[in-house]
Amino acid sequence: MALPPGAATSSCRFAIFSSMLVLFCMSCHAQLSSTFYDESCPDALATIRTSIRTAVSRERRMAASLIRLHFHDCFVQGCDASILLENSDSISSERDAPPNNGSVRGYEVIDDAKSQVEKICPGVMSCADIVAVAARDASVAVSGPSWTVKLGRRDSTTASPSLASSDLPSFLDGLNKLVSRFASKGLSARDMVALSGAHTLGQAQCFTFRNRIYSNGNNIDAGFASTRKRRCPASGSDATLAPLDLVTPNSFDNNYFKNLMQKKGLLESDQVLFSGGSTDSIVSEYSKTPASFKSDFAAAMVKMGNISPLTGSSGQIRKICSALN
Ligand code: HEM
Repeated sequence: MALPPGAATSSCRFAIFSSMLVLFCMSCHAQLSSTFYDESCPDALATIRTSIRTAVSRERRMAASLIRLHFHDCFVQGCDASILLENSDSISSERDAPPNNGSVRGYEVIDDAKSQVEKICPGVMSCADIVAVAARDASVAVSGPSWTVKLGRRDSTTASPSLASSDLPSFLDGLNKLVSRFASKGLSARDMVALSGAHTLGQAQCFTFRNRIYSNGNNIDAGFASTRKRRCPASGSDATLAPLDLVTPNSFDNNYFKNLMQKKGLLESDQVLFSGGSTDSIVSEYSKTPASFKSDFAAAMVKMGNISPLTGSSGQIRKICSALN
């Protein structure tokens, strides 16, 4: 049957209009804004800053731990504070999943910041936003870059230990695996290399780098391997710590990339970023130009902070970060 003249164009216009509407609605729901709490809690950011500064001056490693906490939150169900929930009748926690258990730190620092914010503005600011702001303030506290944190995330009512196990990268991952893991979260290989530069800070346990230092492979500096073996025997001492950046583990700089170029990356997943593959040129760029590392790191943290936030009326604003309301 022939269509009346004009019918095809008008249905076509309708289809274009509806898809634009859908796209617009998707983006308006997912939109975070740096001014989100300007009216509802104008002192929230200053309160968090004080709290994080105090925690980092008490223990410098806490800066590393808080940056990592945000990463492990965002890669599992999005940046929704799901990592903070403790086991309960309705929650099987991400905290106990293998990539986090006995490894992720900083929960009590976030609890403390949250309770300070609750004192001035009860029920207003989400735990997910506090984690995102804490990561930025932690970076600043150890002379790392700053960035404007977009806000308005809400807190999940669920947690997923199985997604924590499947979606977080492993220290044994090869380059292709790492690139595809980050790609599946909307992050490029360049973002991945910049974000891995967070390993300029903090510590790793012996069991995470044992295979690498005993591999006798040719992508590890022999002197570095023997130094690390002293405190990380072939078996036992699994939890003994070593710095991810052997030069300056407490300050945010580009030594991590210089280490990689000397085959002194601690984890297998660090060294694969400079081992003859597609990311070598990025590592070498960051090792020469600290400013480009810092600005790419800041931009990639903003991008990571945008992973699948709950907004609008999804989720909740938890009163206590470790439990549902
Ligand atoms: C590229 C894939 C990555 C892998 C395979 C990986 C793996 C690891 C491992 C195994 C540790 C040591 C944990 C332990 O021994 O308890 C660690 C520590 C750390 N990671 Fe990563 N990581 C990756 C990316 C990132 C990213 C994207 C960030 C942040 C933007 C980050 C931040 C940190 C920090 C700061 C530490 C030290 C934490 C502390 O001292 O408490 N990592 N990572």
